Amino acid sequence: MPAEIINGKELAKQIRENMKEEVSDLREQGLVPHLTVVLVGDDPASRSYVNGKKKASAETGITSEIIELPESTSEKDLLDTISELNGNPEVHGILVQLPLPKAISEQKVIEHINPEKDVDGFHPLNIGRMMTGKDTFLPCTPFGIVTMLKSKNIKIAGQHVVIIGRSNIVGKPVGQLLLNENATVTYCHSKTKDLKEITKLADILIVAVGKPNVIGPDFIKQGTAVVDVGVNRLENGSLTGDVDFEAVKEIASYITPVPKGVGPMTITMLLQNTIKAAKRLNNQ
Ligand code: GUN
Repeated sequence: MPAEIINGKELAKQIRENMKEEVSDLREQGLVPHLTVVLVGDDPASRSYVNGKKKASAETGITSEIIELPESTSEKDLLDTISELNGNPEVHGILVQLPLPKAISEQKVIEHINPEKDVDGFHPLNIGRMMTGKDTFLPCTPFGIVTMLKSKNIKIAGQHVVIIGRSNIVGKPVGQLLLNENATVTYCHSKTKDLKEITKLADILIVAVGKPNVIGPDFIKQGTAVVDVGVNRLENGSLTGDVDFEAVKEIASYITPVPKGVGPMTITMLLQNTIKAAKRLNNQ
């Protein structure tokens, strides 16, 4: 039997409907959740992501603004911009779109954001809170992935989760979140030996490689739940994931598509974090 498809777009829509009501209640009390996104330079992929965040915010009743800075912006100017946002009580969430130009230290920038406005969950304080299982802003893509698995009641505790990719944005934190849910977690990456032997042991396989269609059915045992985090634009303009969807869906138990998979969930979790920031900053 082919895999059940986990439609992230549909799930995101349902969650956003509930969020709309929550935002409407907050607005009645005079609290308007506000997200500020900072975009440095004009990378087309980053611009497209940022526009998606703006559109989704508006649909949910969250106000947002995009601060666009030129590629030539100095690190000091960016840090000054963040300082202003940190001090502005009307700004609840701050997101600096990555990657940044090479002349700017991403780590310095991340560490400069007020951890209470860090809706990406990238600040070391928030990463530490996540690692110790404390209440915090969870990084959006990992949070979205766990929400997708839970939406289908996919068992996590005691299951073997294999992750391909060890980025700070996806691979590392999703492993931590699933460990917090009592999974047994294995991280694979570009230096991993015998990758297929390991991925074939997975009950849940999370793929965040960044190369189109590199994970075929030969990497997967019957019944694995497969989460595809890849977003690759092909020459014909279409989007595809890291997983060979058509072939893998024949043997997986569940699979997330691209598009309409993890992407819409990432944005939804960002909105959720923005609402949380607005409430926490206003002692709610
Ligand atoms: N670039 C790619 N993904 C992300 C993300 O989740 N947050 C930020 N700030 N930049 C990104």
